[in-house]
Amino acid sequence: MAYLIGIDIGTSGTKTVLFNEQGEAITQSLYEYGMKQLKPGWAEQSPEDWWKAVCHTVPDAMQKAGVSKEDISGIGLSGQMHGLVLMDKDGGVIRDSIIWCDNRSVKECEEITDKVTFKKLMEITCNPALTGFTASKLLWVRNNEPWNYEKTKKILLPKDYIRYKLTGEYATEVSDASGMQFLDVPNRCWSNEILDLLGVDKSLFADVHESYKITGVVNEEAALLTGLKKGTPVAGGAGDQAAGGVGNGIVKPGVVSATIGTSGVVFAYSDSVKMDPKGRTQTFCHAVPGAWHIMGVTKSAGLSLKWFRDEFCNEEKSVASLMGVDPYVLIDKECEQSSAGSNGLIYLPYLMGERTPHLDDDAKGVFFGVTPLHTKADFIRSVMEGVAFAMNDCLNVIKETGVPVQEIRASGGGGRSNVWKAIQSDIYQSDITSVNASEGPALGVAILAGVGTGVYKNVREACDAVIKIKQVRKTDEAIQSIYRGYYDLYQSLYLSLKDHFKNLSQLQQR
Ligand code: XUL
Repeated sequence: MAYLIGIDIGTSGTKTVLFNEQGEAITQSLYEYGMKQLKPGWAEQSPEDWWKAVCHTVPDAMQKAGVSKEDISGIGLSGQMHGLVLMDKDGGVIRDSIIWCDNRSVKECEEITDKVTFKKLMEITCNPALTGFTASKLLWVRNNEPWNYEKTKKILLPKDYIRYKLTGEYATEVSDASGMQFLDVPNRCWSNEILDLLGVDKSLFADVHESYKITGVVNEEAALLTGLKKGTPVAGGAGDQAAGGVGNGIVKPGVVSATIGTSGVVFAYSDSVKMDPKGRTQTFCHAVPGAWHIMGVTKSAGLSLKWFRDEFCNEEKSVASLMGVDPYVLIDKECEQSSAGSNGLIYLPYLMGERTPHLDDDAKGVFFGVTPLHTKADFIRSVMEGVAFAMNDCLNVIKETGVPVQEIRASGGGGRSNVWKAIQSDIYQSDITSVNASEGPALGVAILAGVGTGVYKNVREACDAVIKIKQVRKTDEAIQSIYRGYYDLYQSLYLSLKDHFKNLSQLQQR
């Protein structure tokens, strides 16, 4: 029997999942790590922590399954996108990685837009300059830490750093590379024009492949550290969004996913390059050859509920641990005690600024409408509703681009919670489906590794064979009409607060 391994280098931890050829998850292993926030809006992680996590989770998943290293046909890599890993001439890491949710590079985004122009950025990279993207992070290092920039010989993304550790190869693939803002997204290659305009040397970049291609094999040192067989093929893989797209079967027109992880993402497939001319959504190469995807990202989706759980739900955590259940199970139950509209409480989920549709690094989280009658249940529900409103904003921008939306599949933490799915379905005014496969990105890259190694013929066929709809949550028209009013108010609150968010950021900088 052949097995495939999917490794997902996430923001809160690395998850390694071992799949059989039918795409069934046999075992998995998780290793968590932290994020360093040295200043408000900054976020860094140590690439060494990611590698430690891989060296722990890969052998753990294999041992739990009792599978021998000879039976692993291939490995797929996925991970948080955009993170900047700077490598020196000896293959050492120069500084901690500045990761996707770090907002420090506002000035560098202005610099990029001045040098390249908004028009050209949209034509070539299909996206406006964002603090989240790698290009502005690299320019920040050039402007603020020139000594580190000078030492840099290669720039890698998080999962591509793991590829380097596994295989010794500097390589990337089109889906993750799209989020660096140095890629010509329509033509799926590095853009000489962008590199020239920004004065960045092409030699800093790894070779870019289609996502299913095998980019190297496990080398001797990595074999010793991970328990894998030397020579095991490692496929290109994909950024976590495109990987999750494949893992949820978003590989044909009309099917869209709504994924609530740390961030919240509405993700649609497209056969051609489609984008929002205002740059409110991101258009990247898909992990399916000849396809692209368009997505809207709200930055603090699962993060909002996690923050609320950690700051205000110690009681739920203690009871959950006594009961041997996940605290979110109790939090879901509390949410059900409130009702649609959270008794007049509205939450704006902009804890880390926002991307879609507002592109505003100064935006902050808000609870609006608090009265002494509100209970913790109302707060919990308003957090879940606020996140779904933000996801609905993403969905609406995608619809405006003309990309068809016929089916919405819920996934991530928000897809596991029945109450959060119901809230989403009533706010999106659409039925919501769930699929049998819950491993998202890890499954997506295992499928890509399966295509690269010949286990599957192509990505679409593999998804059809492996991913099936298991549940449909029907939307409720009566509740829809309640949410319509709250959604209108939710949207106008941002507009009213926009300037105040900026003022608050300025006060904090003094
Ligand atoms: C995608 C994005 C996030 C990160 C972390 O553009 O910023 O999804 O990849 O998950």
